[in-house]
Amino acid sequence: MSPEVRSFLRTVLAALATGALLSCSGDFETCEPVDAATLAAMPERLSDTGLFADASMTVLAGDVKAFAPQFPLWTDGATKRRWIRLPPGQRIDTSDMDAWQFPQGTRLWKEFTRDGVRVETRLLEKAGPHPEDWRAVAYVWLPDQRDAVAAPSGMRDAGGTPHDVPSASDCFGCHGGTRSRVLGFSAIQLSYAASEDLLDLEDLIASDLLTQPPPSRFTVPGNDVERAALGYLHANCGHCHNQQRPESEGPRCYAPENALDFRLQVGRLGSPGETPAYRSGDSDAFNPGHPDSSRMIKRISKRQTGWSMPLLGTEVVDAEAVALLRRWISEMKRD
Ligand code: HEC
Ligand code: HEC
Repeated sequence: MSPEVRSFLRTVLAALATGALLSCSGDFETCEPVDAATLAAMPERLSDTGLFADASMTVLAGDVKAFAPQFPLWTDGATKRRWIRLPPGQRIDTSDMDAWQFPQGTRLWKEFTRDGVRVETRLLEKAGPHPEDWRAVAYVWLPDQRDAVAAPSGMRDAGGTPHDVPSASDCFGCHGGTRSRVLGFSAIQLSYAASEDLLDLEDLIASDLLTQPPPSRFTVPGNDVERAALGYLHANCGHCHNQQRPESEGPRCYAPENALDFRLQVGRLGSPGETPAYRSGDSDAFNPGHPDSSRMIKRISKRQTGWSMPLLGTEVVDAEAVALLRRWISEMKRD
């Protein structure tokens, strides 16, 4: 039996067992519902989250800083802006360089514009002292663009565009996959020379914002194709596919049960072959030299609910990425 058939049967059996078949979703697609108290603790309107200086919603608050990860997540061509606010006088605990721990009260935002329409702004907030104490919700922009309103259940086709806003529980399908929970504001994602108006790793070191600052920025190994492929897999797949995923007791919430690992780690950047992504080749998800018979290429080349990769957050194939990853596999040699 092929792994695809096996995994399909497993899904159907699990769905029968939980009575979930009517909703057509596999067992791995259910996340813990966010409780009412957590949702109630988040402001109802974006204007009350501290992102903007005033009600005009155009000028950023003075303590909010913009940033961008060097390897962005593909969201069907949407453009994004991102910001962070650290509580005054506090530093990020970087004792685990691959899993930064943010001080309680940290807020991060990400705004999405699709087809020229600003559709949503997402908020992540560190609400307590433990690594799992994060709250998350998306705010959907009102038609007059004067404010955005919390949408804990998400929204299909927001702002008249094809963009779907995820529900508050689905946020952790991706953000629950790493110990930090924050995915784009990290040692590897900020290891590049960002433009003046964006924070990067060197700014954080210079401003003494890290408890254990690294001596310099980190370099993703390889030639241009290898670096781009490793970065793409890190940003688009590594939050789900990594072998350090925190244990959770609730539903599976998009956790893969396989040996794939697409997450870069600062201690494994010596050569492309040292990165977890190359080691994943041993599981036959890709076949060096042969993109056509590589399972990961098949899964990223079309969109089919519950099967295509990534499993969440996209309805349009990232054609440029498919071309990049095909080239990466074609030119790949195992070392
Ligand atoms: C498909 C996976 C996925 C889902 C679902 C998702 N995110 Fe993210 N998010 C990411 C990735 C990957 C990044 C970093 C890369 C980037 O920003 O391009 C990110 C970045 C962010 C950021 C900037 C801080 C950071 O972690 O880098 C915020 C804020 C955020 N997401 C909030 C949310 C909220 C709130 C939800 C749910 C309403 C959500 N996200 C759902 C994958 C996801
Ligand atoms: C939201 C979480 C999530 C994201 C993001 C994600 N995956 Fe997956 N992936 C899964 C889950 C869960 C499974 C296992 C599904 C099952 O049990 O049938 C899986 C299965 C797979 C498989 C099949 C396993 C095998 O050995 O053939 C491949 C290949 C794969 N993913 C590649 C990728 C690639 C490449 C990306 C990024 C472009 C990606 N995935 C992004 C959750 C995710």
